Amino acid sequence: MGFYVPENVVTNDDLSKLMDTSDEWIRERTGIEQRRWVIPGEDSTSGMGVKAARIAIEKAGLKPNDIDFIIFATLSPDYYFPGPGVQVQEALGIDTIGALDVRNQCSGFVYALSVADQYIKTGMYNNILVIGSELHSGGLDKTTRGRGVTVIFGDGAGAAVVTASDDPNRGILSTHLHSEGKNAKELALIGPATSRWVDQIMAEHDEKDLSYYPYMNGNFVFKNAVTRFPEVIMEALNQNRLKPEDISLLVPHQANLRISQFIQKTMKLRDDQVYNNIMKYGNTTAASVPIALTEALENGRVKEGDIVCLAAFGSGFTWASALIRW
Ligand code: COA
Repeated sequence: MGFYVPENVVTNDDLSKLMDTSDEWIRERTGIEQRRWVIPGEDSTSGMGVKAARIAIEKAGLKPNDIDFIIFATLSPDYYFPGPGVQVQEALGIDTIGALDVRNQCSGFVYALSVADQYIKTGMYNNILVIGSELHSGGLDKTTRGRGVTVIFGDGAGAAVVTASDDPNRGILSTHLHSEGKNAKELALIGPATSRWVDQIMAEHDEKDLSYYPYMNGNFVFKNAVTRFPEVIMEALNQNRLKPEDISLLVPHQANLRISQFIQKTMKLRDDQVYNNIMKYGNTTAASVPIALTEALENGRVKEGDIVCLAAFGSGFTWASALIRW
């Protein structure tokens, strides 16, 4: 595992200079104290992904050319197309291996991991690089108009190398994926899309067109998240005949600290069973699970044999979990 976040720290007080908000409001509603935002032009989604990937590959004791497949999850690609997977292949100087882009927003990393897991289990690939990376700051409305969304999101990247193992008692035990497209527009960025004709957009040239900024029905997202998280975690536990008390560490997508606390309470988990770092990085969407998992590893919160549960919920809506015996 490896992660990378930009050096530029943006505190809640920094945001209150840009818009009508306060440290108190943001902390109370989300638990976020600061986030990292790329200095404009200094990095990119693919660039941060490559930095996280280099660390993960080195920690796995491999060289870039040992990687035989790339999976890149993001909602904020450098380009509309192609996706950033190919940019990683080029930047790491890897041979012409396959590169797949996953578009599942906050659940992106867990979805990507499930794909890697299946390719490994069928024997198709041996060392798969899975990346979640987001550059949100370039696309947020940094005025009071956008405060309900903008204060939540941060930039960063996390990466994992998923490798075949002969040990039947270790590894990814199961993954569980869900979606509910009827809620697609409750958390979405509609603007730059083929559903809107480009020549019409250019002709309108409307500065009041807010569809270029992310939209979020915060209350609705919150209510769905606190139901779906426990559901998909229980699905993973039931399939493996385990109980909440068997979880060594739950690494939930860092959507909002209040959501994590709600899950912890509902599932009667102890503090030491749940990892949170949203306070420092905000919500980094597809990057949040691999950033949190890497940090948990570095802090000695995961040891061999532990039952680690990853869970995510977000735009789509999509939600997912993965149960791992470390
Ligand atoms: N600073 C100050 N005031 C703000 C604000 C900000 N950053 N953002 C919104 N407000 C105001 C609103 O305008 C509203 O004012 P009003 O009552 O005068 O109309 C008030 O605060 C309450 O807004 P509301 O949107 O109802 O707040 P909330 O309690 O639902 O909290 C979220 C908003 C976004 C923190 C919360 O809904 C949430 O966390 N939802 C889930 C988000 C999430 O996890 N997204 C990622 C999905 S993976």
